Amino acid sequence: MASTDAPPATTTAATSSPAAASPSPAPEGKLSGKSSPRSAAGSPRNPGGEAIDPLLGEHWTQNPVEDDNDSVLDSILSSTASLSSSIFEYRNINGRTFHSDRTNAEYWGPNDDKQLQSQDIIHHCLTLVLDGRLYLAPIDGDRISKVLDVGTGGGLWAIDFADLHPGTEVTGTDISPVQPSWVPPNVKFEIEDATQPWTFRENSFDYVHMRYLFGSIADWDGLFQQAYTATKPGGWVESFEADANLYSEDGTVTEDSPMGTWTKVFKEAKKKFGRTFFPIEEDVQRQGIERAGFVNVTVKDIKVPLTGFPKDPKLKEIGQYSHLSIEQDLEGMVLYIFGEVMGWSVVEIHAFLAHFRKQIRDKNVHALFPVRIVYAQKPHKEKD
Ligand SMILES: C[S@@+](CC[C@H](N)C(=O)[O-])C[C@H]1O[C@@H](n2cnc3c(N)ncnc32)[C@H](O)[C@@H]1O
Repeated sequence: MASTDAPPATTTAATSSPAAASPSPAPEGKLSGKSSPRSAAGSPRNPGGEAIDPLLGEHWTQNPVEDDNDSVLDSILSSTASLSSSIFEYRNINGRTFHSDRTNAEYWGPNDDKQLQSQDIIHHCLTLVLDGRLYLAPIDGDRISKVLDVGTGGGLWAIDFADLHPGTEVTGTDISPVQPSWVPPNVKFEIEDATQPWTFRENSFDYVHMRYLFGSIADWDGLFQQAYTATKPGGWVESFEADANLYSEDGTVTEDSPMGTWTKVFKEAKKKFGRTFFPIEEDVQRQGIERAGFVNVTVKDIKVPLTGFPKDPKLKEIGQYSHLSIEQDLEGMVLYIFGEVMGWSVVEIHAFLAHFRKQIRDKNVHALFPVRIVYAQKPHKEKD
């Protein structure tokens, strides 16, 4: 159970015999058909001898995973070895489901159990990031009557809030009807596309919460304007976002590594997809909230460890949950963006993910990602 008692986190993260793995068995000869020459530095090259850009999926299929840790190597090899069946599993049973076309929203994440379980772990991780709190805005959860959680996903945040404050009516909205039905009596879920005109009455919510909408929103100003309209005078808005920016403070995440490539691909994707995965870098929360007319704006930046490398026990636990959530559904995080948006084949995506798994399991890699919480109040008197 999350509590609102603890103070907000002021997280500052601290910051074998080499074996060349053979390329995994190729489906229909696509993967291992020709092995490309490699440079002295190990970078894959095309038949003309030019280095293959890591932003092209081919770079990762032509670049066998190397590892000096046998157990890690085994698991990576087995995951790459199942490439061909994975592809057809995906296609045949269509194991990944995405939201219905009936909304105009375009969202990158699957809405199946695998992804929802990952979201549940992220929820726990992000609650730990806030020292067990569900929110930072100075609301009195027991004295307010109506709360809105936009893009609620599996609804855990809304459910926890409703459990914590049984006298408050909590509404969670999403484009997918994936929320559980066994919920506290003071929580309800509605299908609502946050990028379309909202159906809620003006001045009706005491508090509007939005978390992890990166990659979902083309017009952040419009989103916060609608939140402003729906919020009661004197009520609060809170936006909790992360950037798809995997970095280190000690040089252990390099630009051309899988994590560096992750960052670059998600950045490239915005040009084609029109939705940013870098809301912090683009400062969309603070700007959108201020432009909408909210006042008393507070911005809190926190560095979150991607894995359990920190020595500090609290940061280590946060990192362990973060790592777990990513490994729970690594494919779900990239399939749509790398495949549908950037044009990588499923084989290329899985080859990349094998490299990514190797890096994220490497205890010498000290990766972090940024999160930002912005909360602000609607003036008691409406703006002119
Ligand atoms: C990464 S999940 C975050 C879930 C939840 N807010 C949390 O923090 O655990 C993003 C959610 O936003 C939803 N979403 C994406 N675009 C949306 C839109 N236009 N309107 C409403 N929900 C949307 C997705 O369906 C997904 O459930």
